[in-house]
Amino acid sequence: MNKDIDIKKYFRPDLKEARKRTKKMIEQVDFDLATSYQHLGLHKTYLIQTYGCQGNEADSETMAGILELMGFTPAKSEEESDVIIINTCAIRENAENRVWGELGRLKAYKRENPDLILALAGCMPQEENVVQRVLKKYQHVDLVFGTHNIHKLPDYLQTAMFGKERVVEVFSKEGEIVENLPKTRQYKHKAWVNIMFGCDEFCTYCIVPYTRGKERSRSKEDILEEVKELVLSGYQEITLLGQNVNAYGKDRKDGYTFGDLLRDLDKTGIERIRFTTSHPHDLDTKTMEAMRDCAHVMPYFHLPVQSGSDAVLKRMNRHYTKASYLEKLKELKETVPGISVTTDIIVGFPGETETDFQETLALVEVADFEGAFTFVFSKREGTPAAKYEDLTSMDEKKERLYRLNEKINEGYLRGSKRFLNKTVSVLVDGVSKNDETVLAGYTEHQKLVNFKGDASLIGQLVKVKITEAKTWFLMGERVD
Ligand code: 5AD
Ligand code: SF4
Repeated sequence: MNKDIDIKKYFRPDLKEARKRTKKMIEQVDFDLATSYQHLGLHKTYLIQTYGCQGNEADSETMAGILELMGFTPAKSEEESDVIIINTCAIRENAENRVWGELGRLKAYKRENPDLILALAGCMPQEENVVQRVLKKYQHVDLVFGTHNIHKLPDYLQTAMFGKERVVEVFSKEGEIVENLPKTRQYKHKAWVNIMFGCDEFCTYCIVPYTRGKERSRSKEDILEEVKELVLSGYQEITLLGQNVNAYGKDRKDGYTFGDLLRDLDKTGIERIRFTTSHPHDLDTKTMEAMRDCAHVMPYFHLPVQSGSDAVLKRMNRHYTKASYLEKLKELKETVPGISVTTDIIVGFPGETETDFQETLALVEVADFEGAFTFVFSKREGTPAAKYEDLTSMDEKKERLYRLNEKINEGYLRGSKRFLNKTVSVLVDGVSKNDETVLAGYTEHQKLVNFKGDASLIGQLVKVKITEAKTWFLMGERVD
C-alpha cells in the first residue's frame, strides 16, 4: 500500500456536488471520434464485464461501440485481452464486494501481463470512498472513469496506453446529453433504448441520484430516429430505459410526456415495446391509456413498491402511501385488463418493525404481484438512510426476506398458471442452457417459455401453446 499517493491531483467524485440540482436545461452534443484515435485499437482486443442494471448493459454496449470504432475487436478470452473494462454497480454492498473480489483476482493477472489496460467504470467510481480505495490499494487499475464521461474513453485509452500515469477522471455532475454514440448491441432482435438519464427522486436509501445525476430526457426526435433505424435493421423488441421513465419529458417542459412517447413509438413498426423502470408517484393516466390503446406496448408493468408500511414509505421518501399505491394499481389493472405486474421490495429498512413488515406482506397479498425482486436494505454511504438508527439484526432481516419470498413465489406460480392451455406469442431469445433442442423466449406478459424448436427460430416471434406451468417458467409446444 502506498500511503503517500497524492489523491488531490486526480479528478475525483464529490457526493455533495452530485446531490445538487440546477434548473439549467441540459445541452446536447454529438459524439465524434478524432481521426487520430481511429486506429488506436488495431490488432488489439477488449473485454467488458458488466454488473448491475439494464442501464449498465446499455452503457457497456456504448463502450464496446466506441472501442470497435477505434479498431479494437472483442477478445475471446481474458488471456488474450489488451483492455479489460469492469462496468460496475453501486446499488448494494454485495454488488460492490463482487467487484472488489474481481479486482483482487486481476492483480496477480496484471502482474503477468503488464501491458494489459485494466479499467474500472460505471457507478462505483462515482463514490468518493471507492476512488480513495482504488487509488490507495489497487494500483494495478490503470483507468478509472464514471457514468458521465463514457464518451471520453478514446482520450483516456490514449493516455493510459502511451502515458506513464494512471488515468482517474470522474465527473461529479452530469454534462451534456451525448448523441450519435456508436453501439455494439448484444442481441440482433432486441435492443435497449435510453430515453432519459439520471434520477431526481432521492429515495433515502438509494445511491443512484448521486451516481447518475439529474434527470434529463433525450429529445423525442432522437429516440424515434433510433427506433426507426432498429426497425430497419430487423429488431423486434425495444426496452426503453430510464431510472424513472414515468418522469420522461418533465425536464424539457414542452408538455410531451411518457404517454405521448409510447403512442409515437407504437407507430414506428417495432413489434414489441417494453420499458423499465417506473416510480408509482409519476405513473399517470395518460401512460395507462397509451398502454391500453397501443398494440405494440406489452401488457407488463414493473412498479416498485419498496414497502407496504406508510411509516416506512415516508422515511424512504417515496411520495405515496400504501392506499394510493393500491389505487394506482387498480386503475392500471382496470385500464389494461390482464396486465402482469411485478415489483421491487426492500426488507429491513432502518426502523422497520415486525408490524411494518406485516403491512408489506398484506400488500403483497392484495396487489397480486406476479413476481418481485426482493432485497435486504444495504447501507450506502452518503445517502440519508445510512445515518438512520438500525436496530434490527441481520438474522431477523434475512428471516423477513425468506417469509416475503415464500409469498412472492406463490404470485409467480399464479401468474404462470393463468396461461396454462393458452396460445401465446414468444420472442425467441436463444437455446436453453441445459438442452440444445429446447428454445427459450419471453411472452408478451414477460413470462419465460421453453419449447422444442430449431435454433433458426432465434430472433423470431412464434406461437406456442402452454402445456405446463412452473413457478419460474412455462413449457409449451410450437403451434404455428
Ligand atoms: N438497499 C437495498 N435495496 C436497494 N435498492 C435500491 N437501493 C437499495 C439499497 N440501498 C433496490 C430498490 C430498487 C432496486 C433497483 O434496488 O428496490 O427499486
Ligand atoms: Fe433510486 Fe428511488 Fe431513483 Fe429508483 S426512484 S433510482 S429507488 S432514487
